[in-house]
Amino acid sequence: MIDLHAHLLPGGDDGPETLEEAIEICRAAADDGVETIIVTPHQRHGFWPNDDRRILEVLFEKLRSATGGRPTLALGAEIRVDSELLHDVDRLPGGSLLTLAGSKYLLLEFASVSSEPDPRPVVHELTLAGWFPILAHPERIPWFVDQPELVAELVERGAFVQLTAGSVTGELGRGPQACCSLLLDEDLVHFVATDTHDARVRPPRLSEAFRAIAEGWGEARARRLIKENPRAVLENRPLSRHNAE
Ligand SMILES: [Fe+2]
Repeated sequence: MIDLHAHLLPGGDDGPETLEEAIEICRAAADDGVETIIVTPHQRHGFWPNDDRRILEVLFEKLRSATGGRPTLALGAEIRVDSELLHDVDRLPGGSLLTLAGSKYLLLEFASVSSEPDPRPVVHELTLAGWFPILAHPERIPWFVDQPELVAELVERGAFVQLTAGSVTGELGRGPQACCSLLLDEDLVHFVATDTHDARVRPPRLSEAFRAIAEGWGEARARRLIKENPRAVLENRPLSRHNAE
């Protein structure tokens, strides 16, 4: 399995505070069957702007050498969407932003409290410029939960969708789980990832989500969302928006 959303850089954001804790999470993920993690610190988010990506790269190299390749690690970011986003994406590969493992895929986090900026032009502009935007956990963002048709419209415009493993399994509550089921039924999901922050809150248990999806939507769908599609991100390959068999 490949986990493409995980907060693991000690001191980089609200993930683990120490290198030891980060190593513990990596070991737990490897024991769970995760081969590769894309480490995704918050960028442009409140207390953790992380607009100097060299600092993130140094923290990442420290973690990578401490874990010794089990699991394999790559660097990315979970980028908060704001009015400056498109301007900063234009500066890539320069500037502050990190894409997922250096690919054309961008993991985007919309604010939970406000639907500003409007996600439609954001997705449209990014797609037009050749980027592959991924909506991080819409099942945990109330205005997406209330408007599944908006998620469908964004997928139609070129967005991909990532659900949190704990939402799929019901660990994060019935509301997020119901939204996941709806989006999976509608074939609007492309990735499931842990969004792990520490060894206790949202621990890296991707295998449980794999089983839940295999039971509800078939083994092929589980493989697609947790193995094959994230592999395409690592290899910077374009993906189909349709996953249902
Ligand atoms: Fe996250």
